[in-house]
Amino acid sequence: MQYADIPRKSKDNKTKVIAIINQKGGVGKSTTAVNLAAALGDLKYKILVIDFDPQGNTTSGFGVDKEALESCIYDALLQGQDIKELVCETSADNVFLVPATIQLAGAEIELVSAMARESVLKELLIPIQDDFDYVFIDCPPSLGLLTINALVASQSLLVPIQCEYYALEGVTKLLESMKMVQSHLNPDLEIFGVLMTMYDSRTTLSKQVVGEVQEYFGDAVFKTVIPRTVKLSEAPSHGLPINKYAWFNKGATAYKSLAKEVVKRG
Ligand SMILES: Nc1ncnc2c1ncn2[C@@H]1O[C@H](COP(=O)(O)OP(=O)(O)O)[C@@H](O)[C@H]1O
Ligand SMILES: [Mg+2]
Repeated sequence: MQYADIPRKSKDNKTKVIAIINQKGGVGKSTTAVNLAAALGDLKYKILVIDFDPQGNTTSGFGVDKEALESCIYDALLQGQDIKELVCETSADNVFLVPATIQLAGAEIELVSAMARESVLKELLIPIQDDFDYVFIDCPPSLGLLTINALVASQSLLVPIQCEYYALEGVTKLLESMKMVQSHLNPDLEIFGVLMTMYDSRTTLSKQVVGEVQEYFGDAVFKTVIPRTVKLSEAPSHGLPINKYAWFNKGATAYKSLAKEVVKRG
């Protein structure tokens, strides 16, 4: 089925383009990209996920075989391929993907000499984004040119923060990058929400970290907290989102509740 044949849910609302971003690796960006998208898909929203990390964890997490791909987001960014040709189905209902492979690693350097190098992704998304209710961009763990492209292409940012020591470390740098992009290229860019991930209810550390982050970000922090659960880390090796791999698991419940909060925030 072609993605264009499926209707979006909200006809008059504008598409929300949200970057899932934190230059720290391993904080739950890709896990959130896959499972939040899948939970919104279950609510009948039509979702596009752009895998923008050369590691391609989101691509494989959705059950798309990277080895079998002839092209990926790199080819749209730097080889002039039509991004529409790259949109593929995923293991999640109502969720479509523009995949990434390790080829995307080259883009970080090759983009340097591109025309309007910070806005390449934005230009690519304009012709397709209105086909979807939400577009999520899963960012790489750096503040390089790929991430800057994501900041320019997005309306807002979803920042996963792991419940761990030094959780807020690096956040100032991320906010500096956000401000730089706001002042030059994307004045309306805002924080959509801050998501606490890998919460362990048995430790006081998790509670402390949530408190610290709430003090720093206030209401921007989602009420939903994502628990640490083995099922969430197992699901990607089966190429499935948690709502298909273990719908009864607390991780599935948490992403479902996050999806409802996301819809409420508009
Ligand atoms: N809530 C969670 N509970 C258990 N494991 C998790 C959870 N969220 C993420 N993980 C695991 O932690 C690792 C890093 O998560 P990932 O989403 O890939 O982070 P990032 O994209 O920020 O690098 C992965 O192995 C993932 O399966
Ligand atoms: Mg990732």
